[in-house]
Amino acid sequence: MTRRVAERSWRAATASCEPAWTTKIQYPRGSFGMATENSRLILTRRPEPGRLADCFDFQRSRLEEPGPGEVLLQTLWISVEPYMVLAASGALAARPREARTRMQSLMVRYAAGVEIGEAMPGPAVCRVIKSRHPGFGEGEIVTSYSGWQSLALDDGSLLRKIPAGPVPLPAFLGVLGIPGLTGYAGMKVIGAPRGDDMVVVSAAMGAVGAVAADVARQAGAPTVGITSTERKRLQMVEELGFTFGADRKAEDFSDQLKQACPRGVDVYFENVGGMVWWTVFPLLRAFARIPVSGTLTNYMPGAGEGERDRVPELMKQVVPRRLRIQGFAVFDYPELEDEFTEVIGDRIASGAFTYVEDRYEGLGSTPQALQDIVDGKTSGKVVIHLAD
Ligand SMILES: NC(=O)c1ccc[n+]([C@@H]2O[C@H](COP(=O)([O-])OP(=O)(O)OC[C@H]3O[C@@H](n4cnc5c(N)ncnc54)[C@H](OP(=O)(O)O)[C@@H]3O)[C@@H](O)[C@H]2O)c1
Repeated sequence: MTRRVAERSWRAATASCEPAWTTKIQYPRGSFGMATENSRLILTRRPEPGRLADCFDFQRSRLEEPGPGEVLLQTLWISVEPYMVLAASGALAARPREARTRMQSLMVRYAAGVEIGEAMPGPAVCRVIKSRHPGFGEGEIVTSYSGWQSLALDDGSLLRKIPAGPVPLPAFLGVLGIPGLTGYAGMKVIGAPRGDDMVVVSAAMGAVGAVAADVARQAGAPTVGITSTERKRLQMVEELGFTFGADRKAEDFSDQLKQACPRGVDVYFENVGGMVWWTVFPLLRAFARIPVSGTLTNYMPGAGEGERDRVPELMKQVVPRRLRIQGFAVFDYPELEDEFTEVIGDRIASGAFTYVEDRYEGLGSTPQALQDIVDGKTSGKVVIHLAD
């Protein structure tokens, strides 16, 4: 069956978050003189419960020419990810640790979070527009960790070249990027589905969930994706290859899951926690495996406050049902990165794996995009387009 490589929904930035001067910035290749003007989105305050989008503001700065060993990057695409809520909230502030590999360095950067007055760091796809680094030439396209800004000076240590090919560039921030590797490693190593296992994935349209489900599908297992809205649940089955889609916001969500999994659930790939977790929980079978990549319902400040403690309810079941609940970080699996890139890259290029992207336009739309993720208003991997 031929499938579209990507279903795309485009969003125009709203007037309120897109100052006129931030509209798409196109820098001619090789035209850089002395200092260059950069647009950045800086964190102005820590978010309060429910509010994110108004915690950022634009700042212009001037970047000097790259020094020896440095490159100047132009941002083409920015990735917006749930962990950025934790970063903005100040919940990530790990002290720097020694890093010997690119993955370890990336982990250190993720864990460091963001301070007030700094631009939000994060994954991006960039073009090298000036290079004094022996490993990178002008015009090359790379993934970086340069964050929410139009330009960046970079020492090259976290850059990864993107080879020319049929895969669209934003995929390298999602299903072929760190989120995709998270889904791949978590499902392959911890979920380890076999052909007759029933697999359920939450946030299944996002990049982590989409790849986790694809790994299970490749193992021959039926996959149930959890999403929101009737439209997305149908899209999952009709276009994305899921056996069943469940709408977490529907009144009969629990019945939908029971109907989809009459024998119970063998593997539950957890991305969200909260009410979704407690709805899947009674369906977990003996020896179920539960890779936990994150629980985004707990990321916003104030989440869970005032709720009753349900830990005893969970712990009572762990032994009788032999549940294997394992949290993990993508950085635990650097050895899988090349295999993942080849396997999922081939599946995207051949049209065998379909995924969904939610594309926003312009740097100014980035805070609202993050707010929309938290509010469950997005469909699929969220990326911001800045330049071609
Ligand atoms: N452990 C690691 O190393 C690692 C690495 C990367 C990511 N992660 C984690 O993996 C998870 C998924 O990341 P992602 O980048 O794939 O996210 P994503 O694409 O942005 O997906 C987020 C999705 O979660 C769903 N959602 C939003 N609010 C929700 C709520 N209150 N309750 C239930 N579902 C809600 C929405 O999907 P629907 O509306 O369709 O349900 C939303 O589109 C996150 O927890 C993230 O932190 C972990």
